[in-house]
Amino acid sequence: MKVTIIAGARPNFMKIAPLIHAIQKAQQEGKAIDYRLVHTGQHYDKNMSDTFFEELNIPKPDVNLGVGSGTQAEQTAGIMVAFEKDLMENPTDLVIVVGDVTSTMACSIVAKKQCTKVAHIEAGIRSWDLTMPEEINRMVTDALADMYFTTSEVANNNLRNLGAREGQIHFVGNVMIDTLLANMGRLRKPEVYDRLNLNEKGYLMLTMHRPANVDESGKLRRTMTEILNNVQGLPVIFPIHPRTAKIFKDLGIAADNLHIVDPMGYLEFNYMVKHCKAVITDSGGITEETTVMGVPCITLRDNTERPETCTIGTNELIGTNPDAIKPALDMLFSGNWKKGGIPELWDGKAAERIVGILTAK
Ligand code: UD1
Repeated sequence: MKVTIIAGARPNFMKIAPLIHAIQKAQQEGKAIDYRLVHTGQHYDKNMSDTFFEELNIPKPDVNLGVGSGTQAEQTAGIMVAFEKDLMENPTDLVIVVGDVTSTMACSIVAKKQCTKVAHIEAGIRSWDLTMPEEINRMVTDALADMYFTTSEVANNNLRNLGAREGQIHFVGNVMIDTLLANMGRLRKPEVYDRLNLNEKGYLMLTMHRPANVDESGKLRRTMTEILNNVQGLPVIFPIHPRTAKIFKDLGIAADNLHIVDPMGYLEFNYMVKHCKAVITDSGGITEETTVMGVPCITLRDNTERPETCTIGTNELIGTNPDAIKPALDMLFSGNWKKGGIPELWDGKAAERIVGILTAK
């Protein structure tokens, strides 16, 4: 069996790493599976892309489509045009897409129009919020895919309700957590930790890049003020996404306890998360990592496609209104944050299960 694996943006890279490693292991065991890795080039900065390949030991992609930045339509179209040509020249039995980024959707459409089967890893999750481009990407991808690899029973049910057949749904666990567990012993202290004299649970981590939080400068300013005024003076470390950085640089927000740094590599970022008092974020994937590490997580979103991080894990959705930040931080500092548990099958073996299913066919 020949598969083509698609990766395009930062949150894809930690999801493909365990898949490729599981394929390599299956090959060593004599299983008939071969892969080709296509990087669409949606993310292209060293610290948004290359670093992850190096740190997570992901082989160099067979091709980089070099699509780069643009509007949603420009990126989608650019990826489709480039991948259509690539797939015609390199036919495959199955295109494997992960997550919910623009590359996931664009490559699924191209594959199906060339009558190539598609498998979606992290299928079936839904925020039901169509103002997020990721939700549209999930809906389109799942409408087309032939095989669904899922992270939760909620995702399974969403797919059933959308008409997926039982034989298409494979509840395998979470590949992102495979990567986290595989690298827990390799996490690396970044330079900023000693430079700022940080210590265990003595600082907070902040990440923000969603349009609802960062595109409007007045709101971004209020959000930052509420955070900085209510962390009891603890340092806030903010690895800033390029999208946020563009808006942030004109705002002139500065505070003694605010430390803006470049986007971090995987091993350094998760070292910082593991040792911090809490994470404030608008990411989806990070809420899964904090759940597994048992770190309190305050999410600046109105909804989540990963409800188990709230119902089982340490995550709390507080919405995008900056007024909600103080009560959440007060709760954190009162010492009463929920402890949380680990969702079913988030055990580090999801990729192995996926490759087991693929090679059993
Ligand atoms: C994308 C994903 C999102 C994911 C996020 C994580 C979609 C729809 N969204 O959003 O799900 O959580 O990545 O990073 O696919 N930029 C750079 N360098 C890069 C990449 C981007 O400077 O390497 C700039 C672009 O020029 C653009 C902005 O960052 O201005 C946004 O990039 P884009 O890929 O459009 O979406 P993200 O916001 O990164």
